[in-house]
Amino acid sequence: MLVLGIETSCDETGIALFDTERGLLSHTLYSQIAMHSEYGGVVPELASRDHIRRVLPLIRQALHSARCELRDINAIAYTQGPGLAGALLVGASIGAAMSFALNIPALGIHHLEGHLLSPLLSTPAPRFPFIALLVSGGHTQLMQVDAVGHYKLLGETVDDAAGEAFDKTAKLLGLGYPGGAALSQLARQGRPGKFKLPRPMLNSGDLNFSFSGLKTAVLTVINKQEITDQIRADIALAFQEAVVDVLTEKSLAALAQTGLKQLVVAGGVGANEQLRRNLSGKAAAKSATVFYPELEFCTDNGAMIAFAGALRLQAMPEAARQPAHSFTVNA
Ligand code: KG4
Ligand code: ZN
Repeated sequence: MLVLGIETSCDETGIALFDTERGLLSHTLYSQIAMHSEYGGVVPELASRDHIRRVLPLIRQALHSARCELRDINAIAYTQGPGLAGALLVGASIGAAMSFALNIPALGIHHLEGHLLSPLLSTPAPRFPFIALLVSGGHTQLMQVDAVGHYKLLGETVDDAAGEAFDKTAKLLGLGYPGGAALSQLARQGRPGKFKLPRPMLNSGDLNFSFSGLKTAVLTVINKQEITDQIRADIALAFQEAVVDVLTEKSLAALAQTGLKQLVVAGGVGANEQLRRNLSGKAAAKSATVFYPELEFCTDNGAMIAFAGALRLQAMPEAARQPAHSFTVNA
């Protein structure tokens, strides 16, 4: 079964072709980051208009690089939500329209299910069950992934996502958007121990997170000093250490609580070097393994949607696989 995956939930148009026999045949991605960075964040209306421009050329490109024709596609999976309403509508409507026109089944996929299953696209892949730490600009969650369709939310942020906190703090430090990578670059010049920031909810006794107070703590520090380049780097390091500490401790607590030994880190913040170093070192000390799937599968992409769709469709009775006569999105 050849499944076309369509992801348009935020600011990336991702298209992929996944074959249940042959694996991932192709995937294409267009990131709108350069367009949104001018505004310091994602502008929803611009996002949906750009998805409209990109989606068909990307589908053509994905078909071309997989050496496939439209008629080879057996089913369509599109991101149903959560995400930006207008952006989701672009992917869902093109997916439903193609399903109707080609008379093939269409399936709406939960964006987070895509993220949770995406580690299975990389090698080495974890085996079920595993813990997933999803840390992106939009999500911060710890999930127990037992099997396809069997997920347990263990904890999540009660306010800002980890990536959002990186981006907002980067903005306070005068870095561009999205500023997570730039902040971690700056933190390399930081002097350890110059500033001590709180570790929000570290001892809350649950697996939830909170990052909005940390950004306010950074603002308080900024307002109290004369800001030199060195001080900016010191603050960046102190902020990064605080986030990394909390993410690491809660991930280890999730492993301890469930007795599982595999942790997968997905989402853009998973690119953070200090997080990787800290997590891998501390997990190894507890005989646990940390998986960092390739970033192209960790951040928003079409491959994870095609893949989740293929697994879901395979598990469905034949009669339930139907062409779309309508569609809904859940923003
Ligand atoms: O998963 P992702 O590409 O997209 C969505 O959020 O949908 O994650 C992007 C987030 C941004 O907040 C970005 O600042 C953050 O990941 N990020 C980083 C690093 N690289 C990207 N945060 C910390 N350190 C990094 N090296
Ligand atoms: Zn995402």
